[in-house]
Amino acid sequence: MRALSRRLVPRTLRCQLTAGLVTLLALACLAVGVTTVLALEGFLRGRLDQQLTSSGGRFAASLEHEAKPDADNVFDTRGQAESTFGARLLNGVVTQAAVVHDAADHRVPLTPADRHALASVPVDGHGHDIHLDRLRAYRVIAVHGDDQDVLITGLPLHPIEETLHRLEAVEAVVFGVALVATGIAGALWVRLSLRPLRRVTVQAANVAQLPLASGEIAMPEPLADADPATEVGTVGNALNHMLGHIEDALKRRHASEERLRHFAADASHELRTPLANIRGHAELALRHQGSVPPAVHHALERIDAESQRMTGLVDDLLLLARLDAGRPLERESVDLTLLVLNALDDARAAGPGHRWLLDLPEEPVTVTGDAHRLQQAIGNLLANARTHTPPGTEVTVALSTEGAGAVLTVTDDGPGIPPELQPEVFGRFVRADHARSRSTGSTGLGLAIVHAVVTGHQGTVDVTSRPGHTVFRITLPG
Ligand SMILES: Nc1ncnc2c1ncn2[C@@H]1O[C@H](COP(=O)(O)OP(=O)(O)OP(=O)(O)O)[C@@H](O)[C@H]1O
Ligand SMILES: [Mg+2]
Repeated sequence: MRALSRRLVPRTLRCQLTAGLVTLLALACLAVGVTTVLALEGFLRGRLDQQLTSSGGRFAASLEHEAKPDADNVFDTRGQAESTFGARLLNGVVTQAAVVHDAADHRVPLTPADRHALASVPVDGHGHDIHLDRLRAYRVIAVHGDDQDVLITGLPLHPIEETLHRLEAVEAVVFGVALVATGIAGALWVRLSLRPLRRVTVQAANVAQLPLASGEIAMPEPLADADPATEVGTVGNALNHMLGHIEDALKRRHASEERLRHFAADASHELRTPLANIRGHAELALRHQGSVPPAVHHALERIDAESQRMTGLVDDLLLLARLDAGRPLERESVDLTLLVLNALDDARAAGPGHRWLLDLPEEPVTVTGDAHRLQQAIGNLLANARTHTPPGTEVTVALSTEGAGAVLTVTDDGPGIPPELQPEVFGRFVRADHARSRSTGSTGLGLAIVHAVVTGHQGTVDVTSRPGHTVFRITLPG
């Protein structure tokens, strides 16, 4: 029911306005039509009554002489309009009834119902409608005759009805044409008037399609000639105003993002040299020939290990900062098959407790991109499959082609990624167990780098994971 009414009621503003216009005009036409028909009917009836009054029952009075057989024209039809009806009543009973026409016999045969109808006409000199079986609808007046009789004179109503029907037909045609013309012209007019609103809609739709989440956003030009005197102009101005605010906020956000990125890049860059020095000194001290207390030796080893970890972290941060800044990647032909084989060799060496499987197509798979970065991304996925799963886990690396591009999947049957972590797993510093990861050296940057590298290649990366089945899927264009 609701759906039906929704389908019947026009939903667009354009249709609503046009439908409203046509409905109002239809109501106006109806009012004009009914008024003119009623007014004309009143006027014509008034004129008929006048005619009847002025005839004054002359024709009916002449019916008295009907019995005279010698007269040629027994009724006095002179000056009487065609179809004038006359009847004479004596003591409430119709004695004669005739009608004026060309034929010789003017008498009208009356049914009992006709007689009854004639007998019940009030003798007040005013017009009344009656219906006679032979003559149909008549307007009659009744007056008292000279010799105690009642004289009824009538004129037919059908000419009035015909006139009114004709008027109704003409009005129906004229109003119908006017409604159709108004509907068409109104629709065009409304369309024309709402054209600026379409521009507002297009503008809003354009902005809605912009990737506002991050980066530098080029807002579309503000709407021109939005006249504040009109409703649509007000909407346009409000939109311009709002977009101006949004553009301002986005510029400020972009500037702050840029500052942060520069800071991360500069800080990681600046940290590299002192870190290299610390590592160098630690290695030098470890190579010291003389006797070193075991506690000092252990401390030096920790310094060496931690500075190595920190170097890796700083390198990751620097790489992310550079990828964020849109630093162009190398664009060379990369043999993905070779990268996968190398990465798997490293993984086998680092995780001998895992079962490493390979699924490669016959032909080598090549894409255009940065071999070093891609190697790093694949390495990160394999490192995750090794470090976040227990020994004995089966890890399968599969490579295939898709159109001109390539698809790489890394599947493991480990414990899986907690569901609450999955939506943000490609974010920075996102990891399942913060306390444990600090001791295992996990930072939560591995998948962020995979994501940045893959999107830098215009590819996609996603993950599906449940306990016993985790799949990372990378697609790269050719
Ligand atoms: N194959 C996997 N199985 C289970 N959990 C995973 C797997 N891969 C990633 N994770 C979860 O996702 C988190 C984020 O991974 P990511 O590679 O970004 O960081 P990380 O491995 O913790 O640290 P990093 O790679 O920087 O040393 C991990 O901490 C881990 O909880
Ligand atoms: Mg990792």
